[in-house]
Amino acid sequence: MGVLGLTANCEDAAMRLGVLISGRGSNLQALIEACADPAYPAEIALVISDRPDAAGLTRAAVARIPAVTIPHPSRAEFAAAADAQLRAAQVDFVCLAGFMRLLDTALVGAWRDQMVNIHPSLLPAFPGLHAQRQALAAGVRFAGCTVHFVRPEVDTGPIIAQAVVPVHPKDDEERLSMRILAAEHRLYPLAVRLIAEGRTRITDGKVEIDGWQAPEFAALNPSPSDPLVRGRG
Ligand code: GRF
Repeated sequence: MGVLGLTANCEDAAMRLGVLISGRGSNLQALIEACADPAYPAEIALVISDRPDAAGLTRAAVARIPAVTIPHPSRAEFAAAADAQLRAAQVDFVCLAGFMRLLDTALVGAWRDQMVNIHPSLLPAFPGLHAQRQALAAGVRFAGCTVHFVRPEVDTGPIIAQAVVPVHPKDDEERLSMRILAAEHRLYPLAVRLIAEGRTRITDGKVEIDGWQAPEFAALNPSPSDPLVRGRG
């Protein structure tokens, strides 16, 4: 395993992930599918849900991944039980994937720089609930998603990777959410791979990625290639 600047190579054991979910689990599914590739440098050791009816638990069962439901009588009790389960499963790194509870700050501290989250906006814009609704209300032309290291304040922490999607004129919350979700499913496995390969390092609150090349690409929305935008002449 290589995390945060420790060198990884092909002989390293896969980084053992713990994935926390509350519901649908489509990002969990994206990670399951990525981990099915023997060349992927991570494996899912444990899925934890705070809800017994989370659809993601079925996805874990189908993939034969150990999964537990931990009740949430209080933030501190959930945190203690989750931490114990993660340690017992020898988890190296935690992925929040649609986990809908606020985490106890002690748990966040215990897994500092070893816990990431995916959020359906281009953070720091639109943190919190209903990020896609917030984006539509603001009238932005681009939306997207962010994978970031977790810090105690909600949806903050050093950004590892982002994906951008256009907002279409007729979008409603559902359509925009689905477009962002498709990007999430590509982004989360990519971000986790970079971490598992030991290619990320946090310096001054920002993530450096070894060998990172930003794309030479600027997108305009409205697009100048759209005939209506080009001119009505
Ligand atoms: C995703 O949009 C994720 O960004 C947010 O919660 C949603 C979870 O969806 N944190 P799923 O459970 O992974 O399908």
